[in-house]
Amino acid sequence: MLNKMTVKDIDCRGKRVLCRVDFNVPLDTEGRISDDNRIVAALPTIRYILDQGGRLILTSHLGRPKGQPKAEFSLKPVADHLAMLLSKPVIMAPDCIGSKVEQLAQALEDGQVMLLENVRFHPGETTNDPQFSSQLAGLAEIYVNDAFGTAHRAHSSTVGVAQLITPAVAGFLIEKEIRYLGQAVTEPVRPLVAIIGGAKVSDKLPAIENLLDKVDTLLIGGGMAYTFLRAQGFTLGTSLVEEDRIDLASTLLKHAADQGVRLVLPQDHVAAAEFSAEADHQVCSNSNFPDNRMGLDIGPQTIAEYCQIVSESGTVLWNGPMGVFEFPSFAKGTFAIAQALADSKAVSIIGGGDSVAAANKSGLADRMTHISTGGGASLEFLEGKELPGISALNDKL
Ligand code: 3PG
Repeated sequence: MLNKMTVKDIDCRGKRVLCRVDFNVPLDTEGRISDDNRIVAALPTIRYILDQGGRLILTSHLGRPKGQPKAEFSLKPVADHLAMLLSKPVIMAPDCIGSKVEQLAQALEDGQVMLLENVRFHPGETTNDPQFSSQLAGLAEIYVNDAFGTAHRAHSSTVGVAQLITPAVAGFLIEKEIRYLGQAVTEPVRPLVAIIGGAKVSDKLPAIENLLDKVDTLLIGGGMAYTFLRAQGFTLGTSLVEEDRIDLASTLLKHAADQGVRLVLPQDHVAAAEFSAEADHQVCSNSNFPDNRMGLDIGPQTIAEYCQIVSESGTVLWNGPMGVFEFPSFAKGTFAIAQALADSKAVSIIGGGDSVAAANKSGLADRMTHISTGGGASLEFLEGKELPGISALNDKL
C-alpha cells in the first residue's frame, strides 16, 4: 500500500504547486485528443489543489519529441481541453523553464492554473539532469506527483524535482492506482486469476514470473501463447513463436506446476492464412493445426473455458489482448474476456495499453472495478519493480 504523503497531508493555500501529471494522450491526425481518460483521471487532484487555493503549475510530457521543441507534440490542445473540463481558463506557458515561465508562475493567483509546455522539449528531462531539475523545481514550493503512467521513469519531472522540493507528495490518482493494483497482488479476494496476453512473451516474462508467486490461476492468450504451446511440443503452423524463449517458457510451466498454480493455455484458435483483417480463417485445435496458418485469436472452446474461470474468480488482473482485436474477425476472444469480466462479481483490474483500449472499445469499461492509466507503469508494478516516481516522494509521517 502507499506509504507516501498525499495532497491531503499538505496545505497549499497561496502556494505554488508543481504537479506532474501524465497528459500523454493520443491525438488524431488533426491534433485533436482522441482519448481524454488520462486528463479526466487527474481531475480530482487538480480540482482539490485549486479548491484549496493553491497556485497550480501542471507539467507533463506528450509523446517522445527527443529533447527538441516540435509543434506536433505541443500540449496546447490539452490546455484547451482541460479548460473545457474545468470550466475555467488554463494559462498555456510557452515553455517549461526560463524567465518568461518564471514570471508567469510568480504572477499566478490562488486558484489559478497554468500548464507548462512539453517537458520533453528539453533533453535534460529524460536524463534527469540536475540543472534542468533545479530550474523546474525553482518554479514552485510544493511538488505533487499524480502521473502514475510515468511513475516507472526516473526523469527530472518525476524524480529530480521530488528530491529538490519539500514537501513532495502523491496525488489522488497515484493513491488510487496503488490501492487497486497493490490490493490485487497483496491481499486479493481469492481465487486470484491473472489473464496475460499480447503478442510477445518476451515483454511479459518478468510479470509472469512475479505473478506465479501470487496467483491461483494464470490464463495465457494472444501471440505469446504459441511460445508456451511450442514448449509443450505442439507445432502451430506459422504462428508467432519466439524460438529463443521456448526454454524459458518451459521453465515457467514447470515453475507453475511446482507452485501449484494452474497455468492454462489455449486449446483452440482462430487460424488465418495471413496476418490481415480480411484473411480467410478457421478454428483449429492444438493437435490439428495446419502448417500454412497462424493463430490470431483464441478459439470457442478456450473462450468458454476462460470465461468459466473468470466467473468463478474473486479477483482478475488482465493485461494484454487474447488476439488481434483490431481486426473484427480476430476480436471475439478479447471481447469475450471483457464481457466475462463485466458480468462477473470479481474485482476486475485492467492494465496495459492494449487491453485498456480493448475494454474501451467493448463499451464495457465502466463495468470494470479499475482501469489503470499506466501501460508500462502497471506492467512494471506487476513485475514487482519499484516505481522511481513513487519512491522519490516523502514517506508518510
Ligand atoms: C506511457 O504512455 O506509457 C507514459 O506516458 C510513458 O511514456 P513513455 O513510454 O514515452 O515514457
